Amino acid sequence: MSKTSSREIRLASRPTGLPTADNFKLGQVELEPLQDELVLVRNLFMSVDPYMRGRMNEGKSYVPPFELDQPLDGGAVGEVIESRADGFKPGDAVTSHFGWREYFVASPKDLHPVSREFQPLSVYLGALGMTGMTAWVGLNLVEVKAGDVIYISGAAGAVGNVAGQLAKLRGCRVIGSAGSAVKLRFLREECGFDVAFDYKAGPVVEQLKREAPDGIDVYFDNVGGESLEAALSSLRVHGRIIACGGISGYNAEQPMPGPANLFNVITKRLTMKGMIVRDWLDRQDEFEKEVGGYFRAGQLINQETVVEGIDQAVGAFIGLFSGRNVGKMVVKLV
Ligand SMILES: NC(=O)c1ccc[n+]([C@@H]2O[C@H](COP(=O)([O-])OP(=O)(O)OC[C@H]3O[C@@H](n4cnc5c(N)ncnc54)[C@H](OP(=O)(O)O)[C@@H]3O)[C@@H](O)[C@H]2O)c1
Repeated sequence: MSKTSSREIRLASRPTGLPTADNFKLGQVELEPLQDELVLVRNLFMSVDPYMRGRMNEGKSYVPPFELDQPLDGGAVGEVIESRADGFKPGDAVTSHFGWREYFVASPKDLHPVSREFQPLSVYLGALGMTGMTAWVGLNLVEVKAGDVIYISGAAGAVGNVAGQLAKLRGCRVIGSAGSAVKLRFLREECGFDVAFDYKAGPVVEQLKREAPDGIDVYFDNVGGESLEAALSSLRVHGRIIACGGISGYNAEQPMPGPANLFNVITKRLTMKGMIVRDWLDRQDEFEKEVGGYFRAGQLINQETVVEGIDQAVGAFIGLFSGRNVGKMVVKLV
């Protein structure tokens, strides 16, 4: 087969504060004809995620930084175009970490086959993908159970909305915060949240106390900052915190101050557990079975905001920090 031309997004420079389009550049490569034991995949959808902001910085973290002048990577779902490896044939749907590009060549160990039963396949980047699994892991981590009152920040985003839907399925009272009227309506009317409030409309501490006058049992933290401080005030004795993300600080140019009321952890004997979803990959089958079952039965929706074209991927990524997405932000490449 002839060479395949593929466009890709590369890191042009490291940002200070909020990234801009100048930190990225669009490039093109010619992929060599396929060798034995390898698979050629065309990406159909790619994911943009807040954690990628950290990877734009230099320095060690739980994932390596993006390299200057090299293509970015991240979650993607695509279809096999050509295969010279056992177990894969043209038309198979696969997820991978080779996002931010149109085509790629990989060995089978870097591909995860997925069923075409669920459509559109972008669901494997959302409710049935990394962000849905993050929601599921978080609830399991602190054993969220029927009767718990749970507060979820960043609730209308990819992780938050699934966390809320799963918490409702477990029999919790679910409170969410998000940044627009459209998002609040989505949470109440489509995801079944009991309460949703706008964290920009007034101090979170007051709004949370108004919605949960008797306190909360669990806080699912996607945001950090003011929301974490409010949750520390509202948590009951033996309350639990799922430390999932802290997007309010991702573009901060100086270290964010810690919560002024951290002492609540002691007085209320709170538990705060940090999580990284990829530590749980050995439970992926269990997640897919359980959450796929809810999805198949119509008990769980996959909300997404779809942006079209690889040349729009950078804008989609930057848009995460101004709340441009309802549900999972995905980029449609084909
Ligand atoms: N630990 C893990 O393994 C893991 C895995 C996946 C994700 N995460 C974390 O989970 C969080 C949610 O990720 P996601 O993929 O679901 O993203 P997302 O919520 O779909 O997208 C980001 C959302 O964050 C909100 N936001 C942006 N700036 C904010 C600010 N300063 N204060 C409050 N909210 C702000 C925006 O919604 P509004 O309009 O509501 O502001 C935006 O839509 C992130 O912190 C992410 O890093 C952790």
